[in-house]
Amino acid sequence: MQSTITSIEHYFSTRKRTEKFCQPLSIEDYTPQVVEHASPIKWQLGHTTWFFETFLLNKHLKGYECFNKQFNFLFNSYYNNVGKRIARNHRGVLTRPSVEEVYKYRHYVDRHIELLFSQEVTPELHELLTTGIHHEEQHQELMYTDLKLMFYHHPFKTTYEKGGSLLLDSNNSALEWIDIKEGVYNIGHEGTEFCYDNELGRHKTYINSFSICSHLVTNEEYMAFINDGGYKKFEYWLDEGWAWVQNNNITQPLYWEEIDGKWYEFTYGGDQRLHPQGILAHINFYEADAFARWKGMRLPTEFEWEVAAQQFEWGKRWEWTNSAYLPYPNFKTAEGALGEYNGKFMINTMVLRGASVATSPNHSRITYRNFFHPHFRWQYTGIRLVK
Ligand code: AVJ
Ligand code: FE
Repeated sequence: MQSTITSIEHYFSTRKRTEKFCQPLSIEDYTPQVVEHASPIKWQLGHTTWFFETFLLNKHLKGYECFNKQFNFLFNSYYNNVGKRIARNHRGVLTRPSVEEVYKYRHYVDRHIELLFSQEVTPELHELLTTGIHHEEQHQELMYTDLKLMFYHHPFKTTYEKGGSLLLDSNNSALEWIDIKEGVYNIGHEGTEFCYDNELGRHKTYINSFSICSHLVTNEEYMAFINDGGYKKFEYWLDEGWAWVQNNNITQPLYWEEIDGKWYEFTYGGDQRLHPQGILAHINFYEADAFARWKGMRLPTEFEWEVAAQQFEWGKRWEWTNSAYLPYPNFKTAEGALGEYNGKFMINTMVLRGASVATSPNHSRITYRNFFHPHFRWQYTGIRLVK
């Protein structure tokens, strides 16, 4: 990971933003885990703190004493380099430590980070701090989406803010087609600003001419696919996608529901009438791909997206690309534990480009590569078409 020097102020504003998000929650909201891929809020409060403790304080602050030695087992997510850990699908059984204790842990680590950075520190340490901040920003988005999924699982669908429409975004760009000429283009991060290791290895790639849509697919455009029997016709689906539809009886995007002939969408403010011009969200790669095929079009590759993105508005939905998440030429896995951050997930996942309404401010750039397995729908994912 690469970056210019970050300030301790950025650290504290990020830590505070996380806690502000949690403020409206009741204690009971912090602990449950409804599915393996979504983590409890309490666990994420601990895990983001553990990251700073493990990669900065334990190694670089002289005489630092761990807040609680058991926390390494509880809050390590997937770093084999740092030891054994609780199974991912058991994060919801952590009734202890209490929420109060986890906040104490956060503030204990905050005080020690402040101490560490009150002295002269190496550029390497600044880089670690920056990575930790960006890591916490990633978890801020996951907290939004994981909590939404948890509320949705309640039999009466509880909500975060009554009547609010947080993160519902219906302002789309006008529909235009942008033509991109064939040629050799540079792909990947350039410059000294922060980026993740997976954006590095800037390289040339040849791109054939294509046209890309300025707007994201709307709810009503997707509804036309449903009404045309899109979920009932195998011919639009990749084999794996069709199996997913069949095995799970899928008929619509996650969070959509039809009651007495009217369509609703579960939001942070509870169920709301589906907005026809609203930007479609919560579809997986299989659905994005099937929709594009039904339209007689396709999804962009991540390279086409990166080349064209200066010419359209983006940032409201993570956009599925038709690119497998793979290392760029000359990709280097970082030494040590942080080498496990991104690189080891370059198998069976697809790249998403852009950012979403849930993404933290200043946590996006044209070269950012998000990635998820193709069947996941709980992020704010959408569709941009290419022809
Ligand atoms: C980039 C969103 C796929 O969710 O595992 C969090 C972000 N990495 N902690 C993920 C991440 C380490 C990552 N995604
Ligand atoms: Fe993490």
